[in-house]
Amino acid sequence: MAGDGVGRSGVEILADTNALADAAAELFADSAERAIAASGRFVVALSGGSTPRRAYERLARAPFATRIPWTAVHVIWGDERCVAPTDADSNYRMAFEALLAHVPLPPSNVHRMHGEDDPTRAAASYETELRTLLHTPAGSPSTEPGQRIDLALLGLGDNGHTASIFPESDATRETVRWAMAESVDASPSYRITLTAPLLNAAAEVLFLVSGKTKTEMLTRVLDGPRRPGELPAQLIAPTNGRLRWLVDVAAAARLQRSS
Ligand code: 6PG
Repeated sequence: MAGDGVGRSGVEILADTNALADAAAELFADSAERAIAASGRFVVALSGGSTPRRAYERLARAPFATRIPWTAVHVIWGDERCVAPTDADSNYRMAFEALLAHVPLPPSNVHRMHGEDDPTRAAASYETELRTLLHTPAGSPSTEPGQRIDLALLGLGDNGHTASIFPESDATRETVRWAMAESVDASPSYRITLTAPLLNAAAEVLFLVSGKTKTEMLTRVLDGPRRPGELPAQLIAPTNGRLRWLVDVAAAARLQRSS
């Protein structure tokens, strides 16, 4: 059953979590095809949490498993919990089980955040790895094709966080670092996260938000006053890219519709 369409620019409302996962997989494949045509590769930042898992499982099956040229795909993470990659809380483990174990992605194309290491060192090391991957050894992130994240998948926490940029955290005020570690008000508490400066250089950012527990927060983020310190998801505004939201009817229940 189709959703009720785009209620406002950039927001597509889907009937339920399954329809949202189907749409997310389709947009992922479209983005991959565009990026590979433009620069020969596709750099995608995966989100953690439960919402994207269904989309990853779709991508691991026909038609996407054969449609996407996985050998040209590089996977990075938007954030990671500071736990071992085998831990049930690991975003890497979730993505590995749902997708990476089922597609022919070269191991060297999987850029894992080392949640098992000292968080500050792991964040600094990740930034170094990203700067190599994106051919930007120093300075601000580039928005040039081949030098940026092609697609960043993000979720929305019910406290307004995205990636692991939590309300009133240092990460909400970061303007230079691409990745950082912080203790947050969630479990596991220590997290590594990409920062808004890097995410906002992406070619495309796609939020996946589902369920009635997100209704109030989604409405505050999209329709309410701009308070990015309190609502970190409002920090995300690509400087030279496209921002889209895939939300289900339950999460969108109180959204204002465009006139
Ligand atoms: C994480 C995620 C986080 C997530 C939101 C929403 O590590 O938990 O990256 O930012 O996207 O918490 O999670 P759900 O989609 O599971 O509600």
